[in-house]
Amino acid sequence: MSAAPLRVGVVGVGVMGADHAGRLAHRVAGADLVAVSDPDTARAAELAARFDGVRVVGDPLDLIADERVDAVLIASPGSVHEEQVLACVEHGKPTLCEKPLTMDGESSLRVVEAERKAGRPLVQVGFMRRFDPEYAEMKRLVDSGDLGRILLVHNTHRNLRAADSFRSEMIVRDSLVHEVDVCRWLFGEEIETITVLAPRPTGEAAEGVLDPQVAIFRMAGGGMATSEVFVNSQVGYEVRCEAVAERGNATIGLGQSVFVRRAGQYGGRIPDDWRDRFARAYDLEVQAWVDAARRGEVAGPTSWDGYAATAVCTAGMESLATGRPVTVAMADRADVLGGGRG
Ligand SMILES: NC(=O)c1ccc[n+]([C@@H]2O[C@H](COP(=O)([O-])OP(=O)(O)OC[C@H]3O[C@@H](n4cnc5c(N)ncnc54)[C@H](O)[C@@H]3O)[C@@H](O)[C@H]2O)c1
Repeated sequence: MSAAPLRVGVVGVGVMGADHAGRLAHRVAGADLVAVSDPDTARAAELAARFDGVRVVGDPLDLIADERVDAVLIASPGSVHEEQVLACVEHGKPTLCEKPLTMDGESSLRVVEAERKAGRPLVQVGFMRRFDPEYAEMKRLVDSGDLGRILLVHNTHRNLRAADSFRSEMIVRDSLVHEVDVCRWLFGEEIETITVLAPRPTGEAAEGVLDPQVAIFRMAGGGMATSEVFVNSQVGYEVRCEAVAERGNATIGLGQSVFVRRAGQYGGRIPDDWRDRFARAYDLEVQAWVDAARRGEVAGPTSWDGYAATAVCTAGMESLATGRPVTVAMADRADVLGGGRG
């Protein structure tokens, strides 16, 4: 492992970029936050001013090319991820790219291929649930075989509310993508077909937005998964997952807050958003990325995982439009990766 701290630049300093910048500056060992970049330069300057020695670089591509930046955390909108991740690969910079890797399967495949040509693993994708202690424990249990074979997974993913600009297809591409990754990871298999259905929408969603949605995945090995995604639930941020196996089942996300009884009622707190619920997962994710980058490796979800997830969501957006099951179009892993890592 390199003795020097990893000099990290953050691209995109909105909700997630600002959260990750604070994590890199205060909670992650072995990393120095050295630069930030965002077209909203005032926002970037305001964030940089909260830390010592953090430069503002006007153009994200200049930050990526900067020799004083060893590694890049991309938290810009998904529409610009492809260009930015490809630039990171070109400059040989370890990259943690927030989900989704890119906007569709074809563009994500270009990233996988560019990384392969670069000759070494560089890209980790921000599927932080794999680092969440509850999900990680569930994965260990499933892999142990103690409950028998995994047969079914049921996911629930609800947000308090979403901006009016968060349209129906974004519920698939930007939200459901987490359940896609969780199911691939838990089953250890690809998703072969996806169906996305929408009941009568809630009156709390913007005009024309199909919310909630229900997705059904058929796994390559015959397992199935259901996922409810409801981004205007009005309740809070709730993520639950139940894995059903032959001799038992396991559920995560039942709530970890203090249980209070008061004035004839009982209950706990529901977080407003993901930064609260998954704070520990993000810390572990970014620490794993930094540690791996200093060893010249990638930890956790790879560019292949990012590609597989966007390929499934591309099929999911088609299913949402047609109401029919759609077979996921994916390149053959051995053809693309040459039988190597993925
Ligand atoms: N892992 C998770 O749980 C999670 C949660 C929320 C969002 N995300 C992902 O994080 C990313 C950012 O989401 P957000 O909620 O922080 O969005 P946001 O809208 O709050 O912030 C995006 C920021 O990117 C900036 N930006 C726009 N174009 C840019 C460009 N070309 N280069 C650099 N920056 C640019 C914007 O000015 C803004 O400051 C998205 O990919 C999103 O899907 C992940």
